[in-house]
Amino acid sequence: MKIKKCLFPVAGYGTRFLPATKAQPKEMLPILTKPLIQYGVEEAAEAGLKEIAFVTGRNKRAIEDHFDITYELEDQIRGTSREERLDSIRGLIKECTYTYTRQIEMRGLGDAILTGNAIINNEPFGVILADDLCVGEEGIMTQMLKVYDKYKCCVVAVEEVPLDEVNRYGIISGQALDERHTQVETMVEKPTPDQAPSNLAIIGRYILTPEIFDVLRTTKPGAGGEVQITDALQTLAHQGKVIAYRFQGRRFDCGSIDGFVEATNFFYERMKQGK
Ligand code: UTP
Repeated sequence: MKIKKCLFPVAGYGTRFLPATKAQPKEMLPILTKPLIQYGVEEAAEAGLKEIAFVTGRNKRAIEDHFDITYELEDQIRGTSREERLDSIRGLIKECTYTYTRQIEMRGLGDAILTGNAIINNEPFGVILADDLCVGEEGIMTQMLKVYDKYKCCVVAVEEVPLDEVNRYGIISGQALDERHTQVETMVEKPTPDQAPSNLAIIGRYILTPEIFDVLRTTKPGAGGEVQITDALQTLAHQGKVIAYRFQGRRFDCGSIDGFVEATNFFYERMKQGK
């Protein structure tokens, strides 16, 4: 079955960016002139996932407004040179469809994904966490779809992280199939360095099969008292249904101040070089 839908869980509070995120979503923070969420939706659209599904929460209206027409503003700048600054978002609005559902209580990423079941139904789908901003010659989601086409099971994007940072991620280990693909056997959410089965960390890109919803329904809250997608995936990994993929490209953790600044510098340099 061809994958058409991409889920964006955007209900989190973004407390690391307070007070900036007090009254606006973290996903609307810009890297140069484009909000994080737009980079994520562009990556999905490039991969052909044009049915965009958001799991939102309170205070997230700005995301809906971003993917819609702003009549007054557009009227005001029509015919001026400033109008072209809207080209990228206008293109994206035309190219994709947008659907929203709300997570009522912020009970974790696993719970947010389960909330998305109402839009996704019974199909495999992509998941993008927009605060992980990824760049590559080829989009990371495009790369992951190729992995899905080959293995027809869940795919998680991974990268090596320093051992003293494993406690910020879901960490995997398993049977290496080749340099880039691992048949996942073990997954642990936020382990201490001595509990970590490796230093391969899951980043904010997934392809999930609809089986995940049934597993999530019975997954108990784990690390931090939240329902963890890693715990649900562990159940499928035991059945040999999860592949970890070391993607080609670079990721910026824009949910952290360091990553956000790095991404800003990276895109600024790129802009200066006219790319
Ligand atoms: P984070 O762990 O980065 O949490 O969530 P956060 O709330 O966004 O940010 P901090 O840690 O308070 O600064 C990872 C992703 O999962 C989504 C977030 O929106 C983010 O994209 N998420 C998390 C939800 O949609 N719902 C939740 O209950 C938790």
